Amino acid sequence: NTIDSGKFTWSSPSNIAIVKYWGKKKDQIPENSSISFTLETCKTMTSLSFTKRKLSSNFSYDVFLDNEKKEDFKPKIETFFKRIEVYLPFLKNYHFVIETTNTFPHSSGIASSASGMSALAMCLMSIEKQANPGMTTHYFNQKASFLARLGSGSACRSIEGDLIVWGKHGMIDGSSNLFGIKYPYDVHPVFKNYQDTILLVDKGEKQVSSTVGHDLMHGHAFANQRFKQANDNMAKLIGVLKNGDVDAFIEIMESEALSLHAMMMTSIPYFILMKPNTLEIINKIWLFRQNTGLPISFTLDAGANVHVLYPEKHMKQILEFIKNELVAYCQNGHYICDKIGFGAKQL
Ligand code: PMV
Repeated sequence: NTIDSGKFTWSSPSNIAIVKYWGKKKDQIPENSSISFTLETCKTMTSLSFTKRKLSSNFSYDVFLDNEKKEDFKPKIETFFKRIEVYLPFLKNYHFVIETTNTFPHSSGIASSASGMSALAMCLMSIEKQANPGMTTHYFNQKASFLARLGSGSACRSIEGDLIVWGKHGMIDGSSNLFGIKYPYDVHPVFKNYQDTILLVDKGEKQVSSTVGHDLMHGHAFANQRFKQANDNMAKLIGVLKNGDVDAFIEIMESEALSLHAMMMTSIPYFILMKPNTLEIINKIWLFRQNTGLPISFTLDAGANVHVLYPEKHMKQILEFIKNELVAYCQNGHYICDKIGFGAKQL
């Protein structure tokens, strides 16, 4: 009951973690629970074309980024296909053409692995659904998240929105190490319209891949304390998200960002992904917050770029401050205005 050929296209966004995932066990199982805002503007569009072929023992696919053939993407796809083949037995029946494009510039220092792997997982699920038309949306999304996790851990948090939990947590019903779930409890309206202005401090390739970073948590002197800290922050966040305590939210999020970077600075080998301008921006944010009382805050991924987060209500004043005082620290003055989004969409 497999079809001969076809094409599916999905867009899927990036996400920004509030409580960070850093450290994993085998099979992409996270060491701690994490939670993220799904983004809206930063996304990947992926078309997956497939044609039936004679069964072979190899996978067969070509990958294009912005219409350019990318041989260097193939090892990542190969690893991904190997990991998911047992869950998608049709993979070797087809030749695939994967055509992908990002809304954000390729070398912006914004990782495309979360958006890219989740978009590809959605396309693959569309093929699977053809053979099982009765499949529910819940099953479709859950399996897509499960598959995306095997491409890139944080990608499992990009399928849906607006707040996604990944990793088993005793206080969060339904949470799983295997896929992301929608945050299941009440969220105060202030957290429903958060803005994320991404300041591109350094657009270069990352010096250290996240794969290497996760590995360095094995045998890290502070590993167990870090995993406990993350799980404790998840627990604290439940109350904070409910009662709208923005100050407590900021404290958890900024501490998480700095703890993530502290893990990198205290691993062996150690490294620093922040740049001088990252610190300039953080200090300016703190000073502005102190002087105005406005709830501006930051978080960081595994890189030098700064995500500036704030409620929509204060957008005018905060954007003005960002443009006047922070954009000067961005490479070529480049920044991206993003906000909370709702996940992958079929095109
Ligand atoms: O999904 P990976 O393996 O690229 O890891 C990403 C980890 C961080 O972005 C640094 C944190 C997170 O939870 O997204």
